[in-house]
Amino acid sequence: MTTPESIKKIVELLLVSNNITALTGAGVSAESGIATFRDPEGLWAKFDPLELASIDGFMSNPERVWSWYQYRVNIVNNAKPNKGHYALAEFNKLNMNFNLITQNVDGLHQRAGSENVIELHGSIIRNKCFSCNEIHEEEILSENLLNYCKYCNGLIRPDVVWFGEMLPEREIDKAQKLASKTDLFFSIGTSAEVHPAAELPIISKREGAVLIEINPLKTQLSEFADIRIALPSGEAMPLIIEEYKKRVIK
Ligand code: APR
Repeated sequence: MTTPESIKKIVELLLVSNNITALTGAGVSAESGIATFRDPEGLWAKFDPLELASIDGFMSNPERVWSWYQYRVNIVNNAKPNKGHYALAEFNKLNMNFNLITQNVDGLHQRAGSENVIELHGSIIRNKCFSCNEIHEEEILSENLLNYCKYCNGLIRPDVVWFGEMLPEREIDKAQKLASKTDLFFSIGTSAEVHPAAELPIISKREGAVLIEINPLKTQLSEFADIRIALPSGEAMPLIIEEYKKRVIK
């Protein structure tokens, strides 16, 4: 099926689906200049995830972990949502029963206007206490490489899920329930390698959903996809939403 045919087919499916879910990964933010993790130039090609995105890494060198996250926060704060983010935000606005689940921690979906985003891996622009888990919304002075909780004096850390940590229970429960009720599941910009997020499209598929993958490269999910669009999400998602609007907005 050519890309235009795939786009038309996806729009036909959008028009008849009652529950639509998208799971996004780092690829959706790539066109905003934010590095992915497993691409050849990705973060894990340059940095050791166990040193920088794990409890042990933080315990052994909190300053190094904190300054790495501040480096990433600065990139995120200077980044802008791209056309893929904005197209997904329109899914909300075109009163589809659409839910957005993301593995990304950069907040760009929200900055593009998406609502009720389920952040499976937390948020890099939010901090919490390593000991008591209290959220610390206040501005953390980034030059202070160590910051302490105002409630229990524990160390402050980024509110993101590190390797070996459990995902936030409310978010993963909600995501799994949505996946089991979805008619049309989009996997967008993710290598589909990290669990339990990677199980969500499989749960959907098992419950009879149509699975769409938007990714320039094949992934281990590709063989299960009913439709694959091998384009960057910043190109594919606007094509889909524009074709959809032609059909619904007379
Ligand atoms: N549009 C769509 N997909 C893209 C684009 C793009 N412009 N650019 C790259 N991709 C694809 C890549 O082909 C790859 O399959 O995005 C995917 C990114 O994969 P990863 O780097 O593994 O990122 P992700 O799937 O989000 O990783 C999941 O792993 O390290 C943890 O917590 C981290 O949330 C992250 C999780």
